Amino acid sequence: MNPSPPLRRLTKITDLSPTEIDAIVENAFSYKKTRDHNQSDAPILKGKTIALVFEKPSLRTKVAFETAIASLGGTAVFLAGVEIFKRVDGVTREKTSDIAHVLERYCDAIVARVHSHQSILEMAECVSIPVINALCDLHHPTQGLADLMAIRWHKPNQKKLKIAFVGDGSNVAVSLFQSCIMAGFDCVHGGHAAYKIPDDIWQETLQLAKQSGGSLSFTLDPKIAARDADVIYADTFVSMGDEAETTKRLKDLAPYCVTEELMSLAKPDAIFLHDLPAHRREEVTAGVFDGPQSKVFDLAECRMHAAKALLEFFLPR
Ligand code: NVA
Repeated sequence: MNPSPPLRRLTKITDLSPTEIDAIVENAFSYKKTRDHNQSDAPILKGKTIALVFEKPSLRTKVAFETAIASLGGTAVFLAGVEIFKRVDGVTREKTSDIAHVLERYCDAIVARVHSHQSILEMAECVSIPVINALCDLHHPTQGLADLMAIRWHKPNQKKLKIAFVGDGSNVAVSLFQSCIMAGFDCVHGGHAAYKIPDDIWQETLQLAKQSGGSLSFTLDPKIAARDADVIYADTFVSMGDEAETTKRLKDLAPYCVTEELMSLAKPDAIFLHDLPAHRREEVTAGVFDGPQSKVFDLAECRMHAAKALLEFFLPR
């Protein structure tokens, strides 16, 4: 009898090893090359169906996965959260584990965007098909893969880079740091004391840094974070689910807007990245976002290549 296959899941970027991440990013570049040459992808997902379960809004993740699945010959079934998680009166319609059990009977993988990380764990723990976290409150691992790809695109063959994330210690900050730390880069969070990355995740990431030779630090001063950086990265100050705190967050985090002045402290060839959606005049000025150092749409493109490579990793031919 064959041994059971390893549990396949991406609940957070650290579910993958640095070697696996490198292989996925390298394969994502192959998919980019195929598309750049107007060639077609091999139909490696032919006959496979992937459920996309989205409890929160999405543009890039939804379209990146849907186009990736179509291009690889598979079928995507999109399920909006309102259709399955809640009744019209707001009461829970069905247990998350029941939803996952049912989807497992029809589909070959689940890609899920959920409010709580717990929901992703609940799904991943009760099914034997791959479960991919397409963003939750704590992590955004598919973004982290694309971040690494965009960084390697614009900073090829670099063993050491300084990555500065400025602003809210969000799900995006977590997955950016974890993927970049595993690559051995030096990461710094320039942010407000009330909006730090949760301590248990910070400690886990510090441990990763010890293994990889990368580093992780926090500063209240955005200028210290930006100084000599190769990459400056911003995310919204008001993530999905934080809307009730909008006024307070915009006020508290205003000093962490990525301005032209802040960019000028970074290396002259530094790039600016943002996972999008962006809010000009909140976390970044229009001048930086629309300026020559901004590679935000290259990063958005990477989401699709990375989605293809990730699907191939979890659903090999
Ligand atoms: N931190 C943001 C990322 C959006 C892609 C959010 O969770 O809303």
